[in-house]
Amino acid sequence: MKKLIPVYVRVPVIFAFVFGAMEYFIDSGEQPAFIKFPMIGLFLLVFLFLLIAIEIVANAVDNVTYHLLTEEQKKQLEEAQEISFTESKFFKNMVSKLTRTKAIEQEADVMLDHNYDGIRELDNVLPPWWVYLFYGTIIFAGIYLVRFEVMGDYDQKQEFETEMKVAKAAVDEYLKTAPDMMSKEKVTLLTDASSLAQGKTLYTTNCVACHRADGGGQIGPNLTDKHWILGGGIKNVFNTIMEGGRDGKGMVAWKASIKPSDIQKVASYVLSLQGTNPKDAKPTEPEAVEWKEAAIATVDSTKIAAK
Ligand code: HEC
Repeated sequence: MKKLIPVYVRVPVIFAFVFGAMEYFIDSGEQPAFIKFPMIGLFLLVFLFLLIAIEIVANAVDNVTYHLLTEEQKKQLEEAQEISFTESKFFKNMVSKLTRTKAIEQEADVMLDHNYDGIRELDNVLPPWWVYLFYGTIIFAGIYLVRFEVMGDYDQKQEFETEMKVAKAAVDEYLKTAPDMMSKEKVTLLTDASSLAQGKTLYTTNCVACHRADGGGQIGPNLTDKHWILGGGIKNVFNTIMEGGRDGKGMVAWKASIKPSDIQKVASYVLSLQGTNPKDAKPTEPEAVEWKEAAIATVDSTKIAAK
C-alpha cells in the first residue's frame, strides 16, 4: 500500500480530509472555523507537523530494517514491492471471479466450430458482474410490478401530495416557534417599505381606535411627538406594545394577539410617524418626557463601566 500512494499524495489527502471534517462539523457561521477559532488553526498546524514527522520516522525505520535484512531477503522484498496493485494476486483473483475470462492459452477450449473466412468465434460465458446486475434488475422489476401495479401502492400524484404535506407541516412547525425569535433585546428598527406597510396594516386594524389613524392620539397618547410616557426608541416602544402600558390606562399587552415579529413591524411603523405633526394632535401628556436616542448610549456605557 505504501508504494501505491506516494507520500506527496498521502499527506495532503489525509490533511485535506481532516481539514474538511473540521469545517463540516464545527459550526463557525460565515467564517471558516480555523479563522474564527485560533485553536483549530493551531490544532491543524500541529496535525500537519505530526503527519510529516510520522512519515519521516516511518521512512527512517524502513531504511534501518532494510539494512538489517540478508541479501536473500532484500531481493524478495524488492520483488514484492515491484509488483503493482494490478499485478497483485488479490486483484487478479478478483478480476477473474468477476469476469470468468479464459486466458489466451485456453482459448481453444471455448472456440466454436464455424469459421467464416478465417473469422472465428469464442463461446465465452457471460461475465458474472453483468449476470448478477441483470438478475438484480429482474428482482427489482418484480417487486415494483407487484407493489405498484398489483397492490396499487401510492402513485406519483400521491407521492407529491405527501411530500407537500410534510413540507407544510415543517413550515407550520417553524412558524409556531418563530415568534420567540424576536425579543426586546434583539429588536431593531425596521425601515424597509414592506415591513412598514405590514406594520401599517396591523396599526390600522388594532390601534387606530385609541391612537388615531395618523397617530395623533385620542384615548391613547400622541405617538408622533418626541415625548414618551413609557420611553421612546425601538426597544421601549416594542416593549410597551408587547407588555402594555401602566395598569388601568387602557393600553393592553398585545403579545397575546400579535406575534413579536409583527410587533416589531408595528413598532417600527409607529416610530416612522415621528415628527409628522398631524392636525389636532393630542397635546403632550404631562408625564411624558422628551426622548433622546443618546439616552440609550448613556445607559449602555454605564453598564459597560459597571462590568
Ligand atoms: C384601548 C385603547 C388603545 C389601543 C387599542 C391601543 N393603545 Fe396604545 N396606548 C393607549 C393608552 C391609554 C396608552 C397610555 C398608556 C400609559 O399611560 O401607560 C397607550 C400607550 C401606547 C404607547 C406608549 C406611548 C408613550 O408615550 O410611551 C405606544 C407606543 C402605543 N400605545 C402603541 C400602540 C399600538 C402599536 C397599538 C396597536 C397594536 C395600540 N397602542 C393600541 C391606548 C390604546
